[in-house]
Amino acid sequence: MNSNYIIRNIGCLVTCSGFSAKHGKEMSDLGIIENGKVVITNGIISYVGHSSDTVPVECPEDYEIIDAQGNAVLPGFIDSHTHLVFGGYREEEFSWRMKGDTYLSILNRGGGIYSTVQATRNASFEDLELAAKNRLDKMLAMGVTTVEAKSGYGLDKETELKQLRVLKKLNRDHPIDLVSTYLGAHAVAKEYGDEKAYINFMLQEVMPAVREENLAACCDIFCEEGVFSVPESERFLLEAQAMGFQLKIHADEIVSTGGAELAAGVGALSADHLLHASHRGVEALAKSHTVATLLPCTAFSLKENYARGREMIDAGCAVALATDLNPGSSFTASIPLTIALACIYMQLSPEEAVTALTINAAAAIGKADSIGSIDTGKKGDLIILEYPSYRFLPYHVGMNCVQKTIKSYKL
Ligand code: NIG
Ligand code: FE
Repeated sequence: MNSNYIIRNIGCLVTCSGFSAKHGKEMSDLGIIENGKVVITNGIISYVGHSSDTVPVECPEDYEIIDAQGNAVLPGFIDSHTHLVFGGYREEEFSWRMKGDTYLSILNRGGGIYSTVQATRNASFEDLELAAKNRLDKMLAMGVTTVEAKSGYGLDKETELKQLRVLKKLNRDHPIDLVSTYLGAHAVAKEYGDEKAYINFMLQEVMPAVREENLAACCDIFCEEGVFSVPESERFLLEAQAMGFQLKIHADEIVSTGGAELAAGVGALSADHLLHASHRGVEALAKSHTVATLLPCTAFSLKENYARGREMIDAGCAVALATDLNPGSSFTASIPLTIALACIYMQLSPEEAVTALTINAAAAIGKADSIGSIDTGKKGDLIILEYPSYRFLPYHVGMNCVQKTIKSYKL
């Protein structure tokens, strides 16, 4: 890929300008420039302005000129919550759920996450890598330029490290940038004893190795009834923070447990899911720097009620959107579907949905200073739509509106 571009004749340049998460009403401001131009030099945005401006580049012959033909240009999308690397599939469970079986009952019978754990332990490094690479290729075509991806389908040390090493290799080899999260606390690995004993095992045996090999920037936990309790989640997260991990939480996904309050209290980067977040939890998030990451494809696939996105934004939260790509609760990496569900069922405006997939998603992975908006100094990751306005994104339901993804080199 080239790393010097002049993109001109941009009908609607959606900059999403900013270097931190946007809360509440700020989410509606997309920083639009009509008739815009963007210059990318050595993979970094070096100029943002109007099409008629003369651009100060020293050697124009070193630049590829792209005519956006009056279409809209946006920052590349950031999928800030995925379980990208896994073995096997669970299509049978999907049929059971459609007939009334529940996610937690399947998990408690040893299926669900445990079934993927078995398949991931059995899978080779190469098979995991190839399957994940194929998923990333499709995501890139939908305009995704950065992906957060979690471990959590090994639970034992060896397989968790295998998943994270696959991610490290993919980050090197694939154009998409990856941010890795250690999610050993995805389910209790019964071979290590109870919840407490398994948490101790992770803290003492696995996480020092993850740090030493620099395999994950963040740590996540499935704080849920019958999985990890709030007090044990808090103990785990505070220890992880002390080890240098940034924090994320699967919070209030299936039952209201107080996960949102916990996320705000420990200063997590994000609290994710929040389908059953309490009113107090939403208020706590609104006052904090923790991003409320909503995953409408999961609610859709589990036939659950959607998170109260409208209420969260009105309360002043910074909301992000992500796919939750995984083989169980949300087997999709579809950005178009995510946007459509967010606008149609969670009452986000198209502007808010765009903010939620760009600058706020960047903040949810601790990267709002370098990606998520079209500002000078940020990475040259952007997308050209095949339509003149970002408003086509929810309107063209479930369809990919991205004509071209421009992904800068790894820096
Ligand atoms: O975000 N809830 C926990 N983790 C995933 C599902 C993982 C799975 O079912 O394999 C989620 O929904
Ligand atoms: Fe998840």
